[in-house]
Formats: sequence, structure tokens, C-alpha cells
Amino acid sequence: MLLLDRRSLLTACAGLPLAGPLSAAARPVGLGELAARSGRYFGSAVTHLDVADAGDHVRLFDAECSVWVPAWEMKWGALVAKLGAAPDYRATDAIVAAAARRGKRLRGHTLVWHEHLPAGAEGLSSQADWQRFVAPHIAAVTGRYRDAIFEWDVVNEAIEPYDGAANLMRRTPFYAMLGLDYVAEAFRLAADAAPAARLYLNDDHLYYAEDWQERRRTGVLRLLERLVGAGVPVHGFGMQGHLDTRLRFDEGIFRRFLARLEDLGLTIAITELDVTEAPDAGGRSVAARRRRAAAEAGKIVSVALDSPALTGVVTWGLSDADSWLRRRSPDMADNQGLPFDDAYRPTPMRDTLASLFASSRTPHPT
Ligand code: G3I
Repeated sequence: MLLLDRRSLLTACAGLPLAGPLSAAARPVGLGELAARSGRYFGSAVTHLDVADAGDHVRLFDAECSVWVPAWEMKWGALVAKLGAAPDYRATDAIVAAAARRGKRLRGHTLVWHEHLPAGAEGLSSQADWQRFVAPHIAAVTGRYRDAIFEWDVVNEAIEPYDGAANLMRRTPFYAMLGLDYVAEAFRLAADAAPAARLYLNDDHLYYAEDWQERRRTGVLRLLERLVGAGVPVHGFGMQGHLDTRLRFDEGIFRRFLARLEDLGLTIAITELDVTEAPDAGGRSVAARRRRAAAEAGKIVSVALDSPALTGVVTWGLSDADSWLRRRSPDMADNQGLPFDDAYRPTPMRDTLASLFASSRTPHPT
């Protein structure tokens, strides 16, 4: 068997010709199954419409993923439209039921985040507010899904160096209510309500050599060292992975960051992988842009797969047709950043992920 070194493998598979629409008979081994060969999972963000039995593309989410992540339905503002109102679990329950029918594991995303809040939550600022609104929300959601969610993003995007707060923390309503301690308190509440779930801190903009990303890595590590040192039940760190071809990747910097996470005894997940490439497409053909996006994802995933702490990779959607990136700005309207194209056909990124999962030599011990 020809064993390609990693770089030639990435080069080779990024140039693979596109396959046509995949029939069930011709469908290759799913990414979830390939990832499982090294003890890992592959998954995607899904909506309750994506995974409804009558969904247009549920077969693809079923065939490719071993893990699903609700893209928005589990967020506080999606469950509770207005502060104090009764939660509406119908969309989230639908995803849980679909996952059970199709044997998928579910990652919960996310209990505490400064976006997608109930109306009125932006003004919360006291410990009493936390006790009255936030603590019951965390306990209710993690308790309701204690047997359905194997892993939670408990707190999302806690770090923001530009906010000028102590310890590079982001100034959010949660920070206003309890200061830095809101993170530990959220993890303790989640652990009490769902003792079997693995609990993650999740954040973004951590992969590249730019100084502003180095400051974010510093903030994340400082927070995690504090949590682990205090015996807070934090089990893993989620690196969102919204990549960007305009930024500078330094393998050594990224490896050192992963090593620091490993030294803390944490497992690691790439939780929201996609690639922003349209703004500097520079006249390239769509095929060339897709190969470039595949190479960008491959750079990062290949290094992450060298870490035995890496438990899985989740893309933020499967098809560019549904990508949040395309809604960000007009110059992103045809971004090519996911493993399947607008017609749900595999792109070079799918081939790159498949090849990397299949050739991983560093299993995650399960
Ligand atoms: O259509 C629904 C409506 O039926 C529902 O009642 C309402 C409830 O709030 O939501 C409506 O849909 C929108 C949903 O996307 C589907 O398009 C929501 O308004 C909108 O807020 C939601 O945006 C999501 C966003 O997070 C906020 O939750 C995006 O889909 C999702 O891709 C994005 O994902 C975030 C991660 O959670 C964190 N990392 C960054 C990432 C991208 O912003």
C-alpha cells in the first residue's frame, strides 16, 4: 500500500475530480465511519428541518455523520423567545427524536452564549438575575436532555481581548452578573443536571499566527487553566474552526496550542469547521476555489489528527447552499467552504477529510 506523507496526500486529494450526485449504491464510506476508525466522530450542524424524515437531504446527514449538532434550536433565545416566557422545546425535541431514530449522537450547542438570547436578556446584570433566569435555564435544558446529549458546549465565546476586561474576558450579560465566575458556575450547573455528559468550553479564531489570534489563545488557556486548577468539571475544549484563506497558518504555533490543551488533560474537538475563501478568490475558477478551501481545511485537520486528544470534527453544515457564511456579506454570496456543494455533491474538501480520517495514525483512545 502506497503510504503518502501528509503533504503529498493533501495535494493529491485536493485535486480529485468532483463526483456527480451520489446514489445510495455509489455512496462511499461515510465520513463518520472513516473517523470512527481512529476512535473519532465526524458530524455536522443540522437544523430540525434538515433531519426531518421528509427532509430533502436527511439521507446525506445520515450517511456522512455519526454526530449531529443543532445549529440554532438549542440556544436560549430559540427555546425562550422572551425572558420569563415558557420554553418551547418542539424543534429541539424533533432533532433529538430524529437522532434517536437514526442512531446519531448529539452534541448540545450552546447553553451560555451572548448571542441568540431571549428578548430582554441583554439587560441582565446582577447575581439575582443569574439565580432567577440563567441557572434555571441551564438546569432545565441539560436536565431535559441528560440522556440525549453526550457532549455540551456549555459556554461559547467567553474570550474577547478587545473588550478590555480582566483576563481577556468578553463583556457579556453573564460576565456582568457573576464576573469571571459565571463560566465555572455554568459548568457546575450542567454537571449537576447531566453528570454523564462531557462538558466543553467553545471558542473561535484560534488557528492562525496573527497577533489577535495569539491573544485569544492566551485568553482561552488562562481561563482553562483557572477552571482545571479549581477542579471545575470541564472535560474538553471546542475550537470552532471558521477558517479563512486570508490568514497565516503556522503549524508550530498551532501544535503548541494543542499541546497546552493536552497538558491540561482536556479532549479537543473541531466544532464548527468551514472555510471563508470568497473574499480573496482572486478570479480563480470555482473548481480551483474548492480545491483551495479543501487544502485550507486539510492543513488544520491534518495537524489536529496528530493529537490523540482530538475526539472529533464537526463541519458547520454540509452544503454551501445552506452555509451561514453566505449570509454574512454580499462578497460571500458564493463562498465555497464546505464538503458538499450547492447541489449536495461532494467537493474536494470531502475527499480531503475522508483521506485524512482514513490515514490517521494517531488514534483517539476511547
Ligand atoms: O427560522 C427560524 C425561526 O423559525 C425561529 O423561530 C427563530 C428562533 O429564533 O429562528 C429562525 O431562524 C434563524 C436560524 O439561524 C435559521 O436560519 C435564527 O433567527 C437565527 O438566529 C439563526 O442564526 C444562527 C446563529 O448561530 C444564531 O443562533 C445560525 O443559523 C448559525 O449558523 C450560527 O451559528 C454560530 C454558532 O452558534 C457559534 N459560532 C458562530 C456560528 C456562526 O454565527
